[in-house]
Amino acid sequence: MEFFIDTGNIEEIKTAYEWGFIDGVTTNPSLVAKEGIGQEQLIKMISEIVDGPISAEVISTDAKGMLAEAQELAKIHDNVVIKLPMTKDGMIACKALSDQNVKTNITLVFSANQALLAAKNGATYVSPFIGRLDDIGQTGIHLIQEIREVFDNYGYMTKILAASIRHTDHVKTSALVGSDVATIPFKVLNALFNHPLTDKGLDQFLKDHQNSLK
Ligand code: E4P
Repeated sequence: MEFFIDTGNIEEIKTAYEWGFIDGVTTNPSLVAKEGIGQEQLIKMISEIVDGPISAEVISTDAKGMLAEAQELAKIHDNVVIKLPMTKDGMIACKALSDQNVKTNITLVFSANQALLAAKNGATYVSPFIGRLDDIGQTGIHLIQEIREVFDNYGYMTKILAASIRHTDHVKTSALVGSDVATIPFKVLNALFNHPLTDKGLDQFLKDHQNSLK
């Protein structure tokens, strides 16, 4: 399973990347807006830290505009993945970019049918937003299960990228149902390390070691 970090914050990316298990980065317009620098500059800075896929999202709503933005974003670095919304225009842009072997990530996916459309148009990744489904009283992880089944039925190579992850259990359940990737906020990545028995056990080992020196 691949882990991406879901942030535009350079300090968070540097810290998490040092931990060794980060394979890529996802951003979105809301995350970029928090950083107070332009998307192009931010993606360039991220590409200097992380050697892996970096999703950069278009803000145009028409396919022509999306493709023009994609062309500029793709110039920043070979690792840039063009993030497109799950709309009709997004699908037109997705097909055109897949035909040119440009990597895409279809965002704001909330149904298995939407994921199927993205896969048929050659998307590299689909991003089901599981936290936002939980927020409205549905069970986000069921969507990943459904998409996994649909993709496996037909051998689609599009990767399932579990997004909108809110807590550590989302990471575990995404892994259990076979998500290819999870994009995880810094706070949740940080929490993945924690277990009280690890802390207690280590404390005891260190105490016993100190006592043995007396
Ligand atoms: C995914 O690519 C998105 O950036 C992200 O996971 C959205 O998460 P949110 O629902 O916490 O905003």
